[in-house]
Amino acid sequence: MTTDRLMVLDLLVAVVTAALWAGAGVTAAARRPRAAAVLFAGAVAASLARAWSVIALAGAGWWFVQEKVTFALPLLLVATVAAAAVAGPRLLSAVRRGRPGDAGAPAVVVPLLAAAYAGAAGPIQTFLLGYPATVSRSLILLAVVAAAVLVTWRAVAARVPRPRTLTGATTGVALLGVVLAVVPSGSLPDQGRPGDVAAAHQMSGMDMTGGPARPVTGFRGPTTPAPGGRVRDFTLTARTATVTLSSGRRISAWTFDGRVPGPPLTAVQGDLIEVRLRNADIAQGVTLHWHGYDVPSGEDGVPGLTQDAVMPGQEFVYRFRADQAGTFWYHTHEVSNLGVRMGLYGTLVVAPRAAPASGVDLTLPVHTFAGSTVVGDADRPLFHQVAPGTTVRLRLINTDNTPHRFTLAGTPYRLVAVDGADLNGPGELSRTGLRLPAGGRYDLAFTTPPGQPGQPVVLRVDDRTVALRLGERDAPDDGTVTTDTTAWPELDITRYGTPAPTPFSSGSRFDRRFTLVLDRGVSLAGGRLLYAYTVNGGAFPDIPPLSVADGDLVRFTVVNRGNETHPWHLHGHRVLVLSRNGRAPTGAPLWLDTFDVRPGEVWEVAFRADNPGLWMNHCHNLSHADQGMVLHLEYEGVTTPFHGAHGG
Ligand code: C2O
Ligand code: CU
Repeated sequence: MTTDRLMVLDLLVAVVTAALWAGAGVTAAARRPRAAAVLFAGAVAASLARAWSVIALAGAGWWFVQEKVTFALPLLLVATVAAAAVAGPRLLSAVRRGRPGDAGAPAVVVPLLAAAYAGAAGPIQTFLLGYPATVSRSLILLAVVAAAVLVTWRAVAARVPRPRTLTGATTGVALLGVVLAVVPSGSLPDQGRPGDVAAAHQMSGMDMTGGPARPVTGFRGPTTPAPGGRVRDFTLTARTATVTLSSGRRISAWTFDGRVPGPPLTAVQGDLIEVRLRNADIAQGVTLHWHGYDVPSGEDGVPGLTQDAVMPGQEFVYRFRADQAGTFWYHTHEVSNLGVRMGLYGTLVVAPRAAPASGVDLTLPVHTFAGSTVVGDADRPLFHQVAPGTTVRLRLINTDNTPHRFTLAGTPYRLVAVDGADLNGPGELSRTGLRLPAGGRYDLAFTTPPGQPGQPVVLRVDDRTVALRLGERDAPDDGTVTTDTTAWPELDITRYGTPAPTPFSSGSRFDRRFTLVLDRGVSLAGGRLLYAYTVNGGAFPDIPPLSVADGDLVRFTVVNRGNETHPWHLHGHRVLVLSRNGRAPTGAPLWLDTFDVRPGEVWEVAFRADNPGLWMNHCHNLSHADQGMVLHLEYEGVTTPFHGAHGG
């Protein structure tokens, strides 16, 4: 069984165990010894099953099994043994002698409910307290369980009628909840440093190491293209608009130039890209971030860090050289969760200088508006007429918060680039599902098959939406269109393509190593009490930044402790994948700017710190980022004059 399945199973067993113990206790209190005995037997069996599931998780190498092994499991087992020894015989004799009154005795009810509290402590520790499971938190939890037992005991021992007894149990459980709710992640003494990270890199005359301060505003792009390149001038005006999709459906959107997506930006390698951003009426403000494009830090478009948000009536000019060829996109980074969802994004495609474009080249950003899948600005299948033998490149971009699965039917093809970087030696694919992380890009290339008129090539999103048909003539109703692709296996990109040398690898000597544990937990970060998305137990702005020096070789490990996928994204650098779940890629080297860390996964990636500045490092499920899953990567000595402390 895979680790994430085991995690789910373990959680299920934990919840069932606590519920069975609680059920046994409550029915005993209700003086129904038979029902209580049955539930009691079930609870003992479930407790043993829990021991098995924890051991299985440990066997699967789950990083965080320690808290279960050292705390949750012993607590449950001790409570189970106590309940079996103290309550068990009494309960059985109540059944045998037919004296239901005996079942309501404190010596029966209290140990059963105590086992229920002990059983509940495990999931509470896992979900409410989250990572890291510190000794102090475990002690607090233990104290809460003890208090709950005490309250229950007093209520039962008072030999009051049934309702009060139940009230005692309920009070115990409620107490457990209340106390835990007021123990948010950030407020415990051994929880790292509190305080405002943003303050740490405010503008100051000198940096901590005594070197001269380098304001992030000093890292701006050049004003001229590379020799032979030209200047590409664009103006993008952010404004609200009603947009008509291809079906005629109208949506109210936040747009660049009244369109969704914004105008496609294209350039040739070596050109100078110059974009004047104007804000007409986006009241929340707007910026431009060049997703996956390693621009100088001052051009990166992060409000509160590299610039102030551009408010209505204001403007900002971005300049950078088109050094990387490939498929990218741009989007606002101010209130990005809302802004991107509402439509403040567009595509950026840079053609290599050497190879002139030929054939059909389509850029296909996929976005969800009000529940429907929109490809470019089309919410109806696109048809593109192509002659047989045409070379085609499809540039797929996921601008949503969650992954999309793409399939291409009707032709073999190759996945030639990921996140704008060409893959080495990509093999031919067919009948394959491609899972594209939020924010990520896949370029597919193929030559349309000869002959067979009426057999179009069909691109689908999530196996149901036909995004695009390519063929000599439109033939929507033939067999290809109705092909069921749901069973097509998913491509593992860590095993695709051909290995090639890389400038560094797992065996290199690393100057810095970081570990990021992604999870959820109660947090008070930024003054809001919320069930946040956390990194190393904290939420933005209370996550210490990763600090590097120019030229460092940096390795970081990203672990997903929770049960949701986190598309991890680093600004300003592309990272080389060293391993996933301990296994090195066997295919082409993978240089990514966004990688999906699925539940239970461990990714190790590395990059060269060769782009000095202040950079965001965050989950590209922008709603997770909005709820805390954001930190900064800062180069020593780089300061910011901005005070935004914006998460996303
Ligand atoms: Cu595409 Cu910080 O994001
Ligand atoms: Cu996430």
